[in-house]
Amino acid sequence: MAPKKKPNKPFNNHQTSDPGLVSKINLNNEATDSTSKNHKLNGHILNDKQMVGDESSELQMPDIMRLIQKDLSEPYSIYTYRYFIHNWPMLCYLAMYGEKCVGAIVCKLDVHKKVVRRGYIAMLAVDEKYRQEKIGSNLVMKAIAAMVADGADEVVLETEITNEPALRLYENLGFVRDKRLFRYYLNGVDALRLKLWLR
Ligand SMILES: CC(C)(COP(=O)(O)OP(=O)(O)OC[C@H]1O[C@@H](n2cnc3c(N)ncnc32)[C@H](O)[C@@H]1OP(=O)(O)O)[C@@H](O)C(=O)NCCC(=O)NCCS
Repeated sequence: MAPKKKPNKPFNNHQTSDPGLVSKINLNNEATDSTSKNHKLNGHILNDKQMVGDESSELQMPDIMRLIQKDLSEPYSIYTYRYFIHNWPMLCYLAMYGEKCVGAIVCKLDVHKKVVRRGYIAMLAVDEKYRQEKIGSNLVMKAIAAMVADGADEVVLETEITNEPALRLYENLGFVRDKRLFRYYLNGVDALRLKLWLR
């Protein structure tokens, strides 16, 4: 999870040609679209789908904010969400169960120290009722795949040192503990920076 801080300048050269896209994953009991990629997840079918247009991104904002505000300790303003979602909609995924948004991941990709294309996972949350069904892992894998497609060299994120579920999820996916950041969060808790090298 990201601290409340001034965002970096967005990386514009590698923006999608479709700047309004927010990616959606649908979790349905039945496959809905023969053209979509479906993945079975503990009885649910995970259906990858993309929503089109800036207006739809704005309509999805309350769902994303509801999920993330409920569980993350950092208070984010709507401008922070807009910063990520409007600049990197192709790196923001929702997990849908029917019409209900049950998970969200919000990321970005920009250039670090002028050389490294660094993906950053800013926010991740899964509705309490839908946890431990690999929805969180799938959201992270989707976002990483999109970063790889956009030439990422590495992916980083911060999480509270006490957040066992998040640490296990990311370590299962190959992230390693890179740095400890003392009193990083507004609540005084230390963060661990986790990193995944892609090259
Ligand atoms: C962290 C979070 C996103 C995980 O989502 P999820 O869909 O439940 O995660 P997954 O089902 O993909 O779990 C993957 C792995 O994470 C670990 N994990 C998940 N929940 C766990 C829990 N409650 N306790 C211990 N380990 C847990 C397990 O190792 C699990 O793998 P396993 O089932 O093979 O053991 C979810 O707990 C959440 O939204 N928490 C609140 C917000 C948050 O902390 N976000 C992360 C900020 S960086």
